Amino acid sequence: MQNPVQIPLSLYIHIPFCAQKCPYCDFNSAKISFDEQAYLAALIDDLRRDVEIFELNGRQIKSIFFGGGTPSLFSTRAIAEILQAVGKIIDIAENCEITLEANPNSAEVAKFAAYRQAGINRISIGVQSFSDKNLKVLGRIHSSAEAKNAILAAEKAGFSRINTDLIFALPNQNIETALSDLRAAADYGIEHISWYQLTIEEGTAFFRAPPANLPDEEEIADIFDSGREFLTAQGFEQYEISAWTRNKKCRHNQNYWQFGDYIGIGAGAHGKISQAGGIFRTEKFSAVKKYLACSGKNLNPYAAAVKKIEKDAQVFEFMLNALRLKNGVPRRFLSERTNLTAEEIDGLIQDLIARGLLANDRDFYRTTEFGFNHLNIILEEFIPN
Ligand SMILES: C[S@@+](CC[C@H](N)C(=O)[O-])C[C@H]1O[C@@H](n2cnc3c(N)ncnc32)[C@H](O)[C@@H]1O
Ligand code: SF4
Repeated sequence: MQNPVQIPLSLYIHIPFCAQKCPYCDFNSAKISFDEQAYLAALIDDLRRDVEIFELNGRQIKSIFFGGGTPSLFSTRAIAEILQAVGKIIDIAENCEITLEANPNSAEVAKFAAYRQAGINRISIGVQSFSDKNLKVLGRIHSSAEAKNAILAAEKAGFSRINTDLIFALPNQNIETALSDLRAAADYGIEHISWYQLTIEEGTAFFRAPPANLPDEEEIADIFDSGREFLTAQGFEQYEISAWTRNKKCRHNQNYWQFGDYIGIGAGAHGKISQAGGIFRTEKFSAVKKYLACSGKNLNPYAAAVKKIEKDAQVFEFMLNALRLKNGVPRRFLSERTNLTAEEIDGLIQDLIARGLLANDRDFYRTTEFGFNHLNIILEEFIPN
């Protein structure tokens, strides 16, 4: 591994609160009342502890992501305070990408300009669909008009980097209705779309009572193919399974996929940090009460002990992330960001190339088109024994 100080470092900040729990969502989020100041103090305490434990003082934060839950429930003052406090604990790069996830409800949209003032320079709007009918099925509390208004408000506030989350494979959806969501985003000049296929996750309301008339696999594949054709014609490039952009890739997410490091603070947040002694995963208590209880008392906020990623698991995790990227990652990242060398896996790589799953590329680990569509087959080969 290269000197860990040179591995790009990001910061993920989890805000687990929502105005309403959506029936499809299994993120660590809930409709609970919260004390903004107490949570803010816990976040800062959490960061201070991670920086101390992992001796991150000499490193610099390249991107910050406020994810949720619904970070836009937090006041603009709180977001500004968090960013100021982060800057006092660890160096933030001058051109740091700072994203905030926002729901398109009017009250939150009204804060967009102030978020930008506070230092947010990328906004990710959870539109999901521009159809009121679909929004109702998804249990969303915003309307299509509010979604459109949120995009206009973000543009008016001066954001030049706006993402919209859209979900496809919805009940009763056909190609035309799926395309109309993409068309609306493209027509509004959006340059980044996270286009997710609806998944029915264990523990969600949709899992307990699945919605009727979900499209079957063949219909989903047709929707995806048409969407790909449409987005490509609109100048979008698919750079990851669900990520499409017109030249404005999300640097924060790219860092995850390129096996960079990230600190994860907040209830249920995950982190990955490299040190001379190895690569470590962190996970904080996901229950807010338990998480808050650690704050200010010098208690350990880790849900489990910090886990070291063993060498055979490193290659699996590296590929699991890297091969999600359409263009893969430079081969040198393997020896720079794990304890492995290219020689150690070359036999397997050659085999996957011979099977048409990986591209015969001297400089990059990347899939072929066929391999991209059969990622599971490739990843199975890297699963540690
Ligand atoms: C962390 S969530 C939150 C963003 C924000 N709270 C919101 O709902 O607008 C990020 C995105 O994941 C997507 N998502 C969540 N659960 C999903 C599921 N079961 N299937 C597909 N996409 C999902 C949604 O598009 C959502 O906007
Ligand atoms: S989708 Fe967003 S708003 Fe809905 S429950 Fe999940 S995090 Fe909260």
